This record gives sequence, C-alpha cells and structure tokens, in this order.
Amino acid sequence: MSIVKRIVTFRPSFTVRIITGLIAFLMMLSVCAVVGITDQTRLGERDANFKARSIEAGAKVFSLQCARCHGPNGEGIDGSGPALASEMFVGKISIEDNPAGPQIKVDEKSKRLEQIGWTGALKDYIKGVTSAGIPIKSSNAWDANHPAFSQKFGGNLRDDQIDDVANFIINWGLAPLANDKAVLAPAPGANQGPKPTAVPLTPQQEAGKAVYSGGAGCTGCHAIKGVGNQGGVGPNLSKIGKDAADVIASADYKSKVTGQPAATTPADYIKQSILYPNAYITPQCPTGPCPAGVMPQTFSKTLKPEEIDNLVAFLSSLK
Ligand code: HEC
Ligand code: HEC
Repeated sequence: MSIVKRIVTFRPSFTVRIITGLIAFLMMLSVCAVVGITDQTRLGERDANFKARSIEAGAKVFSLQCARCHGPNGEGIDGSGPALASEMFVGKISIEDNPAGPQIKVDEKSKRLEQIGWTGALKDYIKGVTSAGIPIKSSNAWDANHPAFSQKFGGNLRDDQIDDVANFIINWGLAPLANDKAVLAPAPGANQGPKPTAVPLTPQQEAGKAVYSGGAGCTGCHAIKGVGNQGGVGPNLSKIGKDAADVIASADYKSKVTGQPAATTPADYIKQSILYPNAYITPQCPTGPCPAGVMPQTFSKTLKPEEIDNLVAFLSSLK
C-alpha cells in the first residue's frame, strides 16, 4: 500500500480525533496569546506617539493663547499670570517603561494643588481652569480674571485643544522650573484687598502713560502690569526700564541701523526702540523669538517729539 493511499484511508478512532482537535485548538490559542502580548506593546507605542503629537499641538495652543500671561516658557509674568512650569505647580514626573508601553510616573505631586485643597488630578484642574476660567478675582496680584477658553463657555478652544494644552503643561513636570525662577501664585487668601499704592508718576510720566494707552496702539501689541495685559505680540514692557539697562550692558548688544549708534542709557535705548524698532531686535517675545519689522516703523512721523519724550519718561520709570 502506498503512503498516499494509507493517509487517505486512515480512519482514526473518535478519541484520537478529539485529542488531535484539542491539541490544535490549544496551539492556536497560544499563537493568539503571543500575538496579543506583542500587540499590547504596539498599542502602548501607539498611545505614546499619540501623546507626543498631543503635546506638540498643545505647545502651539500655549504659545498663541496662554504665553502672553503665563510667560513663553511657563515661567509666569508678574501681574499677568502665575507660573505653570514651576515645580510648585507641576510637581515632578518621569516616564517609566512597562510592557504596555511608556507610562507617566508621578515622583512629586503638585504642591499648589495641596495648597488650594484640590484633591482631583492635576490634568482635571488645568482643564477646568482653562475651560471655564476663574470668574472671581482671587487676589490683587493679577490685573485680570482668568478668561474662559472652552467653546462651551464662550471661548475659542475645542475640547481636544484644551486636552492638548493640559498634556503640554503636565509634560513640564519632566524638567520643572525651580520655584525661585518662577512667578508663583499667592496662597489662597493672600494678597487680598486693594492693591498697595504704586509710586505716583510725575506729570510727564502720566502724560506718557496716556500716549501709551491712547491712540498710538502700543497696548495692541505690548502688556504692562497694571496698565493693560492684552498685547501678546511684542515683549512685555512691565520692567522695560530695567530690561533696557540689561540689554545695553550685554556683550553682544549693537545697533543694526546705520546712523543709529548703540544706545548708552536705558532712556536712549527705549527712544531708539520706538523710533527705529529694527536697531535692535529683542530676542524673546511672548509667542517665540521676536519678529523684525512687526513693530510699526512710523512713530517718528505719527507722534510729536513731545509725546515721544513723555512716552520715554513713562517707560523708563518701569523697573
Ligand atoms: C489674560 C491673562 C491670562 C491668559 C491669556 C491665560 N491665563 Fe491662565 N491664569 C491667569 C491668571 C491671572 C491666573 C491666576 C488666577 C487666580 O489664581 O485667580 C491664571 C491661572 C491659571 C491656572 C491655575 C494656576 C494655579 O497656580 O492655580 C491654569 C492651569 C491656567 N491659568 C491655565 C491657562 C491656560 C492653559 C491658558 C491658555 C489656554 C491660560 N491660562 C491663559 C491669566 C491668564
Ligand atoms: C504691531 C505690534 C506693535 C506695536 C503696535 C508696537 N510694538 Fe513695540 N514691539 C513690537 C515687537 C514685535 C517688538 C520686538 C521686536 C523689536 O525689538 O523690534 C517690539 C519692541 C518694543 C520695545 C523694545 C522692548 C525690549 O524689551 O527691548 C519697546 C520699548 C517698544 N516696542 C515700545 C513700543 C511703544 C511705546 C509702542 C507704541 C507707541 C509700540 N511699541 C507699539 C511690536 C509692536
């Protein structure tokens, strides 16, 4: 009898058939299990890729919507908004590898949440504040109440964008800013009541402040603590008197406009910044590196010399 014929006519007993079926079934099950396990890792990787994309999208939202009050690097801006990249706010996290893909591990919890008595997750706090805003003035440290950003509350952000910006902020926990390098939020109940009176301005500085907040349009692009925090295009000018002194003292400072020598006093620097904005391009603006040619180059024609002197007197007093 040939082999072929033997196989064709082979009639195993009923028991043998059941056992063979069972073995085949168990083998298939174990193949499924192996595929399943490796797929878990793939799912984990896909999750991680998705998170990375969300953080990237969140960075864009942050720089366009949040940086003008919270600072380009989340360091906070005195008078406009507290730090969100500080260790106090984000705590510390690390990324842990595990079979189901990378996972976030909280090494140090947010002390800010402890301080305000929020027992939920950090992400939910961020999403809550961002979505609905803070409708009351919690302290006199801030010029304005928190805007509501969710489309559900009259804002301009979708739910997925709010989720992205929350992921972006939480990600700062990998390398948080030291608390002494950040503008921290006051504890609940602190800084209440009327603002301490600022040093009164001289009549000339007062006149300069009026030019700044008036028709010249400076407030559309710049912010100054206590005067207006809406402008998020140009640098924050709350301490321009001091910042100007720092620029002229720095080694690589020079003027780029011929016929306009580098300034030697803060007042000169400020005047030159207004009349010849391209003489020196400030490095850091709220939404990233400062663009050249965005600040109008026409103030020498549209403002009177006296208005410019008053403006310079006002801005030089901000330290
Ligand atoms: C007009 C200025 C302004 C803008 C724009 C702004 N914030 Fe705020 N933010 C504030 C101020 C002021 C506070 C503190 C308010 C308070 O404590 O009452 C704050 C607080 C927060 C807090 C809570 C911080 C803490 O320590 O409790 C979060 C989270 C936050 N902002 C997220 C965002 C996000 C995300 C965006 C952008 C989508 C944004 N903010 C845009 C001004 C602003
Ligand atoms: C259209 C937006 C825009 C307007 C309007 C505008 N600026 Fe600017 N300003 C900028 C930008 C962007 C920069 C940074 C780039 C540069 O240095 O030119 C800047 C830079 C400055 C600087 C230098 C800041 C620093 O830290 O070195 C001063 C001072 C200044 N502006 C004052 C003013 C005053 C005063 C007005 C109103 C008379 C005004 N700006 C109007 C966009 C604007």
